Amino acid sequence: MKIFIKTYGCQMNERDSEAIGAQFLAAGHVLTPSEDDADVLLFNTCSVRDAAERKAKGKIGYLKKLKDRRPDVLLGAVGCMAQRLGDRLLEELPHLDFVVGTGQLHRIVAIVKEIAQKRNRQSFTEESRDVLVGMGEHAPDGGAFGQIAITRGCNRFCTYCIVPYVRGREISRDQRDIVDEAKKMVDHGVREILLLGQNVAAYGLNGDTRPPADDVSPFGELLEKLNEIDGLARIRYTSPYVTYFSDRLIEALKNCSKVCHNIHLPLQSGSDRVLKAMNRQYTAASYLHYVDKLRAAIDDVTFSTDVIVGFPDETEEDFQMTRDLMNRVGYSQSFIFKYSPRPGAKSALRPDSVPESVKEERNQILLGDLSARVEKMLQKQIGDTVEVLTEGVSHRNEARWTGRTGTNFVVHFEPVPGLKVGELKTVKIERAGGVSLFGSIVK
Ligand code: SAH
Ligand code: SF4
Ligand code: F3S
Repeated sequence: MKIFIKTYGCQMNERDSEAIGAQFLAAGHVLTPSEDDADVLLFNTCSVRDAAERKAKGKIGYLKKLKDRRPDVLLGAVGCMAQRLGDRLLEELPHLDFVVGTGQLHRIVAIVKEIAQKRNRQSFTEESRDVLVGMGEHAPDGGAFGQIAITRGCNRFCTYCIVPYVRGREISRDQRDIVDEAKKMVDHGVREILLLGQNVAAYGLNGDTRPPADDVSPFGELLEKLNEIDGLARIRYTSPYVTYFSDRLIEALKNCSKVCHNIHLPLQSGSDRVLKAMNRQYTAASYLHYVDKLRAAIDDVTFSTDVIVGFPDETEEDFQMTRDLMNRVGYSQSFIFKYSPRPGAKSALRPDSVPESVKEERNQILLGDLSARVEKMLQKQIGDTVEVLTEGVSHRNEARWTGRTGTNFVVHFEPVPGLKVGELKTVKIERAGGVSLFGSIVK
């Protein structure tokens, strides 16, 4: 069979799609980038905001035409929205053939085969612990950048968030499994590994939601093991929850030369009242305390974040506190989301009281702050010498290549003869644009 896969949502979903593809390849099927050419079209869906669900539903709805033309084609929705809606999705989209939730993705090949034979419409949404082991597969693509899911699910239950309901309880993979997978990837040419999980810093804590003691961090231990792999140049991770940065983890970050100095540290809000209503485990002051500790340990560390504007009853004052705290931390990247009530998550029981126009206004203010701040951060680096991992030809200008610093700034430069993707190069920064840097390779 020829399989087409389209992915919505976060990196975890991208990673799952890779594993789904690998399972089909291993079973002797082929992947195709063309909808018209495919026998089976899979949509790996996201539920995190209403807009994400509407996008996938719209796309599948639109494919009715294709299904009318080629009735044998199978259309399947998989992933988070599939898990949330199950049979309801089959009712809503009459030409959708099957639904496979996050708990059954490790059986996707067998399920599709069964559907292809029986031609019955069905949904598969049971939770299963096997999924973690079964999703270790990778299709080696010869690329220099790889990702590994180290945990699945989430136990934190932030009140706005659907993820714990669609991804199930948090489970961690064995350390040895992860290290073996990383070594295999490096043997296939991978130079940078991105570790993925809803809260990677909770890795190995057996689902305990209390912050770890200061001498405890299985995640830190994992980083130290991965740091020893020859041939691996860089390790990144996303996302860690702030209260899990024990002294032990900070120690590991300091010790591991390959671990990048950029931390994605979701803030969500700078108002203690809102943080409490969100069931976040910190206050503005304790969040800042961790930031200060991390800065003291790693002097060039940069932070990025996620923030929600327009949570129920968020006042102008609450918003100002978020804005102030963001400026104080000085994030080099921030993802701002307008609050979207998710049926099933606790905050959806409260009225979505902040008008859309106010959410949009707050969104724009924070985006404006970000671009002003980033411009300054980039300007300050002119004249510096930085190390980048090369990523290939620039999308904007074919004469240039791009790479990224460990602190996660994009740098453009002219290639030298024989330059390969995934090489560490030293670049002297000559000028700064609005969102990236420009320089020349010196070594
Ligand atoms: N596990 C990650 C977040 C995964 S969801 C973490 O905790 O770091 C990615 C981001 O989407 C969240 O950080 C949050 O900012 C945003 N988000 C989640 N639910 C949302 C909702 N209901 N409305 C708006 N944004 C939401
Ligand atoms: Fe959602 Fe909170 Fe878990 Fe992140 S930590 S996935 S925001 S419940
Ligand atoms: Fe990711 Fe969306 Fe699922 S953000 S975990 S794909 S709900």
